[in-house]
Amino acid sequence: MPRMTFIERDGSKREVDAPVGLSVLEIAHKNDIDLEGACEGSLACATCHVVVDESSWDKLKPAAEEEEDMLDMAFGLEKTSRLGCQIIMTEELDGLIVRLPRMS
Ligand code: FES
Repeated sequence: MPRMTFIERDGSKREVDAPVGLSVLEIAHKNDIDLEGACEGSLACATCHVVVDESSWDKLKPAAEEEEDMLDMAFGLEKTSRLGCQIIMTEELDGLIVRLPRMS
């Protein structure tokens, strides 16, 4: 099974199992990682915002326009920001690293 790493707000790293087909948001919730996801993945909030590590960025499919629009409203937006509910785990994404953004 692929694995992925979350870097939490205090800088600590958590490497977890990342089942194919689950979103980064779902994986965070399964592992008690503090990523909100208020709209449960329906692209209506931006609270599932994560910053993708440069090493993983090229493996991701580009964000859809709806995701970009929602991201514009996220706090602490960075160049490699994405919505966690829109990153769906695949075998190729094994080793994915995402960081939780600094809080407002
Ligand atoms: S959970 Fe709301 S946009 Fe991802």
